[in-house]
Amino acid sequence: MASSSTLNFNLVMLLLFFFFVSSSSSSSSFDRDFSIIWAPDRVKILDQGSQLQLSLDNTSGSGFTSKNKYLFGNIDMQIKLVPGNSAGTVTAYYLYSESEQHDELDFEFLGNVSGQPYILQTNVFASGKGEREQRLFLWFDPTQDFHTYSVSWNPQHILFLVDGIPIRRYANKESLGVAFPNNEAMGVYSTLWNGDSWATRGGLDKIDWTQAPFLASYRNFSASSACVVNRNVHKCKQLWAHSKSNSDQQLQQEQHQSLDWVKKNFMIYDYCTDAQRNPTPPPECAFN
Ligand SMILES: *[C@@H]1O[C@H](CO)[C@@H](O)[C@H](O)[C@H]1NC(C)=O
Ligand SMILES: *[C@@H]1O[C@H](CO)[C@@H](O)[C@H](O)[C@H]1NC(C)=O
Ligand SMILES: *[C@@H]1O[C@H](CO)[C@@H](O)[C@H](O)[C@H]1NC(C)=O
Repeated sequence: MASSSTLNFNLVMLLLFFFFVSSSSSSSSFDRDFSIIWAPDRVKILDQGSQLQLSLDNTSGSGFTSKNKYLFGNIDMQIKLVPGNSAGTVTAYYLYSESEQHDELDFEFLGNVSGQPYILQTNVFASGKGEREQRLFLWFDPTQDFHTYSVSWNPQHILFLVDGIPIRRYANKESLGVAFPNNEAMGVYSTLWNGDSWATRGGLDKIDWTQAPFLASYRNFSASSACVVNRNVHKCKQLWAHSKSNSDQQLQQEQHQSLDWVKKNFMIYDYCTDAQRNPTPPPECAFN
């Protein structure tokens, strides 16, 4: 009896090793791990694959996606945003499942005229439904250095983090009938494009094309504890349910504090408190 459960345990551990460890590599390589999906002539891979640069000019933006698709895990990317007069530019960094009822987790960086602050807009789509925007100012200039933008995604919740500091939580409230992204694997995407009809001061500040090309840079991608999905989402979910990382997913006290700190000092828009759009706050709002 004991040996059969030991065997079972070993098998699970072996599969976990295969699924989880295979996904985290110590150094990211943009040639190996990503594909260019928009305007290859405007995408540069530098330093033996350790950096990628997107560009936008008056004829096109550009974009890339990961070769792997992920379900759950900690997914990090370091990004340095378009410097100088970036008004009207949008750098979108997101997880996305290509399907009709798609899931999507968005970081959208809205540029600004020189010296004025970027806005970071986040959004969550689950089963095709979005309209869950939050907007905040950052506590640093995101164009001076690389900063780490992360998604920590497990069956209980999704945390958005900036340099390891949680800025947003989306709890799993399927129990209240709110959709949660856990049925579809998502790829990692980023695109740089012209959003000057809406992005900066609601569209008042247009792109100054004399400043083109606009450049955003990426490095140090990592997907740790992520389940790399090659079609079999179900198996990934089962493995995740067995995994130890499932056990300590309670939101830590300091995470609560940082969410409060961000809300109090940096948040400028929250769909949960937009009484015009949502006279009754959506049910998940009470838990996030
Ligand atoms: C785009 O920019 C290039 C370089 O500045 C310029 O030569 C060209 O005329 C511009 N094209 C359009 C359609 O504005
Ligand atoms: C740009 O700067 C203006 C003026 O400080 C500010 O109102 C706006 O929120 C900033 N960001 C964007 C993306 O519009
Ligand atoms: C991030 O990437 C840079 C080069 O692209 C490298 O020098 C640095 O060590 C990396 N940092 C981490 C934490 O992996």
